[in-house]
Amino acid sequence: MLLFILYIFHKGVLLIMNETKCSNGSECDVNRRKFLSLAGWGAFFTTISVSLLATVRFLFPRVLFEPPMTFKIGLPENFKSDETADSHNVLFIDERWKDSQRVWIVREKGKIYAMFTRCTHLGCTPNWFPEDGIFKCPCHGSQYYSNGVNFAGPAPRPLDRFAVTVSDDGQIVVDKSKLYSVKEFDDPNSYIEV
Ligand code: FES
Repeated sequence: MLLFILYIFHKGVLLIMNETKCSNGSECDVNRRKFLSLAGWGAFFTTISVSLLATVRFLFPRVLFEPPMTFKIGLPENFKSDETADSHNVLFIDERWKDSQRVWIVREKGKIYAMFTRCTHLGCTPNWFPEDGIFKCPCHGSQYYSNGVNFAGPAPRPLDRFAVTVSDDGQIVVDKSKLYSVKEFDDPNSYIEV
């Protein structure tokens, strides 16, 4: 299409140059008619092309592909540990899904749950300090115990948790479409027993 428009432009320039040369009108009239005909077809094809492009664009809308809300993290027996539990009954924090899913898997004595890595103050991502056994938020200094309970800074409540279930193949499934806050931590869907 662009080539066609350039071609018409080129013809128009030639016509103007020729017009300066022709003395009697007959040949110039023919050139002018040709040019007007080409320009007409050009306008026609341009309109058709733009309409076609708009239709194709309509058939393929811009869709935002978001990662799935559920994901598997493996079998419960993969989360065994010989470590000694801390004063909050936590054996270890698994950070494998922190970056990709914003989830910490917490292995407590007798249970596993999935904690949301979002500070309950203004939503920053806290960091886990295994040597201190606490989470610290880099934004305004909130601190949480290993079980996600807040004890310092402006955070108004413990870290939230996602639903966890065991699928047919025995793997633990984290469901990020269901969020539990502190008053719902006893809900049987907010943890699995091991
Ligand atoms: S966002 Fe974490 S303390 Fe403010």
